[in-house]
Amino acid sequence: MELVIKSGMRLLGMLCCFVWCLALTQSPALAVEGSRAKAGAEIYAQRCAPCHGEELNNVSGGWSFDLRRLRPDEHDRFVDSVTSGKDNMPSWYGILNGEEIEAIWAYIRATVDK
Ligand code: HEC
Repeated sequence: MELVIKSGMRLLGMLCCFVWCLALTQSPALAVEGSRAKAGAEIYAQRCAPCHGEELNNVSGGWSFDLRRLRPDEHDRFVDSVTSGKDNMPSWYGILNGEEIEAIWAYIRATVDK
């Protein structure tokens, strides 16, 4: 009986160690994504919020596109529209660089896909 408990405890210890290691190896990637989304939130607040709404809450009644409607697989559409402009939205080409546009995308995904 004691042996069973002991090996059970050991197994549990190993499992904890495994989960912990997994968390350690995963977190740097998550931290990078997180800080990118944070940078994106700031750029969004300065550049996009006036037309697309504070913190992605679009209250334009449909005049400007609700960015929360972009699905995860619409990354390319997002980058295209932002880079080239669309109808009433000016192009951001030359104002925002690729990294800044990606940061805004990361912010949208981090907010919508919670
Ligand atoms: C001057 C107001 C204005 C600003 C500022 C603005 N937008 Fe827009 N945006 C619009 C309007 C209006 C539309 C809808 C265009 C249309 O009629 O399809 C739109 C549409 C979009 C679309 C969807 C286009 C599509 O594929 O249908 C994206 C993506 C977008 N904006 C991203 C952004 C981002 C990112 C920013 C900040 C860098 C930004 N917008 C800043 C007005 C603005």
